[in-house]
Amino acid sequence: MDSSTRHILPGDEVDSASHQENLHYYLVEHRRWKKKTLQARCLIGLMTLICCILIVVLIVTYESGRRKSRSTRESSKREGQGTAGDVNLIKFIHLSDIHYDPFYNKMISSSSYCRQQVANSTAKYIAEYGRIGCDSPAMLVENSLDAMKNVSQEEDIAFILMTGDLSAHQMWTSYAGPQRVLDNIATVSKQMHSRFPNIPIFPMIGNNDLPGHYVLPKAGDDWYQKVLSSWESLIICSECPGSVKKPTTQAILQESFLEGGYYNASIADGKVVLLVLNSLYWSVAVKRSVETDQKASKQLVWLENQLKLVKSRGQKAMLASHIPAGIDTFDSKPYWFNNYTEIYVRLVTKNYSDVVIGQFFAHSHKDDFRLQMFEPETSITAKSFVLLAPAISPVYHNNPAFRLVSLDTDQLSLADYTQYYMDLVMATQFSNPVWQVDYTFSKKYPSKNTLVNAERIYELNEQLINQTSDTFWNGYAFSRETNYQPMSYNRFTLYCGMRFVDFPNFQKCTQKYSVPGG
Ligand SMILES: *[C@@H]1O[C@H](CO)[C@@H](O)[C@H](O)[C@H]1NC(C)=O
Ligand SMILES: *[C@@H]1O[C@H](CO)[C@@H](O)[C@H](O)[C@H]1NC(C)=O
Ligand SMILES: *[C@@H]1O[C@H](CO)[C@@H](O)[C@H](O)[C@H]1NC(C)=O
Ligand SMILES: *[C@@H]1O[C@H](CO)[C@@H](O)[C@H](O)[C@H]1NC(C)=O
Ligand SMILES: *[C@@H]1O[C@H](CO)[C@@H](O)[C@H](O)[C@H]1NC(C)=O
Ligand SMILES: *[C@@H]1O[C@H](CO)[C@@H](O)[C@H](O)[C@H]1NC(C)=O
Ligand SMILES: [Zn+2]
Repeated sequence: MDSSTRHILPGDEVDSASHQENLHYYLVEHRRWKKKTLQARCLIGLMTLICCILIVVLIVTYESGRRKSRSTRESSKREGQGTAGDVNLIKFIHLSDIHYDPFYNKMISSSSYCRQQVANSTAKYIAEYGRIGCDSPAMLVENSLDAMKNVSQEEDIAFILMTGDLSAHQMWTSYAGPQRVLDNIATVSKQMHSRFPNIPIFPMIGNNDLPGHYVLPKAGDDWYQKVLSSWESLIICSECPGSVKKPTTQAILQESFLEGGYYNASIADGKVVLLVLNSLYWSVAVKRSVETDQKASKQLVWLENQLKLVKSRGQKAMLASHIPAGIDTFDSKPYWFNNYTEIYVRLVTKNYSDVVIGQFFAHSHKDDFRLQMFEPETSITAKSFVLLAPAISPVYHNNPAFRLVSLDTDQLSLADYTQYYMDLVMATQFSNPVWQVDYTFSKKYPSKNTLVNAERIYELNEQLINQTSDTFWNGYAFSRETNYQPMSYNRFTLYCGMRFVDFPNFQKCTQKYSVPGG
């Protein structure tokens, strides 16, 4: 650098007469220049240092801000208070129909149900994370739970609803058996517990979690005892830290669960009671016996007593189970016997519509909604509604999906939910399962009503056959199989199925709309 600067110094052209003077001039200039570069270097150094400090300060401020907002959210949640305009929300995960299949073989096609034991029909491609048309391999179960765990690192999750069918389809054949169902339930429960040891997990019985398909345990059978051995610590939250309020006690849990696979639990700091039902007792697919009929009625009496208790204590109730009341739009048949549907719907609409703030069911493996209205023809009608969660198992032409639901603990109403899904075709093609947000209810179905309640679902239902706007319909129809190719459907069957819980009114509705198609 020195040699090059020398050439551009003034008076550097050689002139022997003024050589001394030039040299002196040069030395002075050089010293001055050296001083200047030193100053410049110091300045640059100083500025770099200041920049570094600024960046560090910024990062620290941002991080502590994040931590602070998180802890404010937590503490305001615990104390049930927040600053004006603050909404107190608790969040929970609703997942369903995992259908864990230990016999899954990634090389076998869906025509053999991905099981070598069924037939050796080799598939055209390897499907490590699951195949459309088959139940979930261990890889998919673990990956789904990891995705939920990832969500829990961004959001505080208070509890988890797992609305049934932990075990795969067809586990009672010669190659498996009832013990395999219990083993599958144990495996899934353990996997869940290991990822969420600090919050309550509320599992429920599905039609594939029984000693036979739609076969309820008989008197003297210790099935519920065996299932509860996998679930008790999850429900009671026995290994949770002391700061987590216990949802129920072992004695209360055992009393109802060993009777019929149902139970109650305290959530949202005791403001809400979760009533977990075993709706198999009301299912048309279960062969009737004196015992099942007795237990079916007994559970409805239990439900009524619980709702009475909840109301008398000024609390609200959330109901959850596997098979919902209402119509299966796949075959246009009712899910439950009419007599049980009637009693149930009377309870949640007429007598306790002000108590029941939401119902969480599944079984259809579809993202869907159901309305329940008492005397639907009259205008002054109390309504209730059901959120049907999609499945983890991709067996019915659907992508795996789960929901993060938020509950407003001031208004004691559901506030919103966000659905996450994994595109199975892409995951298989690129050997890389990626979970992403599917949609958020409030954004997909915008409304003046900002809560998720019966009025809002009623409005959504109306919009499905709105001739001037197809927005809601398009969103709904594409979501049902969580972004996999939609199966063929009849638009009016879906509309009527969502609207009417009882079979006669559903039939009247579908007859009214005579043009088929979607
Ligand atoms: C499938 O192939 C395996 C290994 O070759 C064989 O043991 C099994 O019996 C076959 N199963 C069927 C259903 O053909
Ligand atoms: C969880 O998050 C990590 C870090 O972002 C990511 O590498 C991983 O793939 C995620 N897991 C799932 C199942 O999405
Ligand atoms: C659950 O039900 C029992 C009665 O069987 C009752 O004593 C208990 O308080 C209930 N728990 C909650 C959280 O409502
Ligand atoms: C409800 O209907 C089922 C099926 O017809 C029947 O077996 C059962 O006894 C009925 N229960 C009541 C309480 O009416
Ligand atoms: C529910 O409503 C019906 C009809 O009004 C009534 O007969 C019944 O006693 C009510 N039950 C309760 C628990 O309030
Ligand atoms: C149909 O949708 C339009 C546009 O969103 C709305 O203005 C209208 O009120 C809707 N009609 C009914 C019957 O819901
Ligand atoms: Zn299922």
